[in-house]
Amino acid sequence: MKQQNSEQLMKGIHAYIESLSYSRDPQGLYDPIEYVLDLGGKRLRPVLMLLAYNLYKENVEAIYPQAAGIETYHNFTLLHDDLMDKAEVRRGKPTVHKRWDENTAILSGDTMLILSYRFMMQGCPVERQEEVMGIFGQTALEVCEGQQWDMEFERRDDVTVDEYIEMIRLKTSVLLAAALKIGAVLGGASAEDADRLYDFGIRMGLAFQLQDDYLDVYGDPATFGKKIGGDILCNKKTYMLITALQRAEGADRDTLLHWIQADDFEPAEKIAAVTAVYDKVGIAALCRQKIEDYYAEGLRLLDEVCVEEPLKEPLRAFVDRLMERKL
Ligand code: IPE
Ligand code: IPE
Ligand code: MG
Ligand code: MG
Ligand code: MG
Repeated sequence: MKQQNSEQLMKGIHAYIESLSYSRDPQGLYDPIEYVLDLGGKRLRPVLMLLAYNLYKENVEAIYPQAAGIETYHNFTLLHDDLMDKAEVRRGKPTVHKRWDENTAILSGDTMLILSYRFMMQGCPVERQEEVMGIFGQTALEVCEGQQWDMEFERRDDVTVDEYIEMIRLKTSVLLAAALKIGAVLGGASAEDADRLYDFGIRMGLAFQLQDDYLDVYGDPATFGKKIGGDILCNKKTYMLITALQRAEGADRDTLLHWIQADDFEPAEKIAAVTAVYDKVGIAALCRQKIEDYYAEGLRLLDEVCVEEPLKEPLRAFVDRLMERKL
């Protein structure tokens, strides 16, 4: 079977997404959509969908609309997420609510959500439509549930690691998992294989979000494309903060509690103080270990997918690079 590697798939879907034109009135609604979609990003979800499809079928172009649909959905979540997280920079550029305004981020985001459903339906074989739309709808709901937990956790100080993992499963993992499952279903995979790929995606998604949280503290602003320290400023209950709260003692614990409760502060000062406690209790190494564990668990699930091993190579190579964030 003819397969493409992830770079080739990425090129193809990137060109397809860039070729989509939204030159309709009112431009104030569509310009931000083109702006964010053309900024790119890693195209992780569409590439995962194409890689999964390509385990079973060659003509990946047949599902470009569905791949564009999942990317459009992802970008919708980013417009609203940046508003909720008060983020000013994404992919190295001003976020939509900064470049335009908050109402634009809301309505252009809503429009992208609608467009994502239209893409998902486009050319979807009738016999697979119900299953594909069922997976997509369920996933789209779960992402909102995860985002709500994420916001509620900002105001709680007793969030457990298990609650955090469930929150990131919902806000992040299910979309990666659904991308893989929809690709597999459209490729004609068995129900068992489609579910194994979904579970593989869940583990990869957990590792991916843990890493995103890690990079929010320890990343290089030049390559991360977002402002460092945003999660600390919002009191996001990340694995790192939860674990630091459990491990820090005495003055270190007081420092953490002081900054979590502070209303009026210099952002850079809060980021530096919280990061210093993280460093003291060795949070970085703990977080990296957890990422490794989920990644290894994911790979074991991929082993169980019933296609010949060499066919899994492009998918393996892709997640490998993803975990090193060399994408
Ligand atoms: C950002 O996703 C939101 C998270 C789930 C961490 P990505 O890191 O995939 O964002 P882009 O699309 O590459 O910019
Ligand atoms: C993102 O979580 C999850 C969704 C967008 C659904 P984050 O808030 O950590 O994502 P970034 O860091 O802003 O990309
Ligand atoms: Mg965010
Ligand atoms: Mg967020
Ligand atoms: Mg983040």
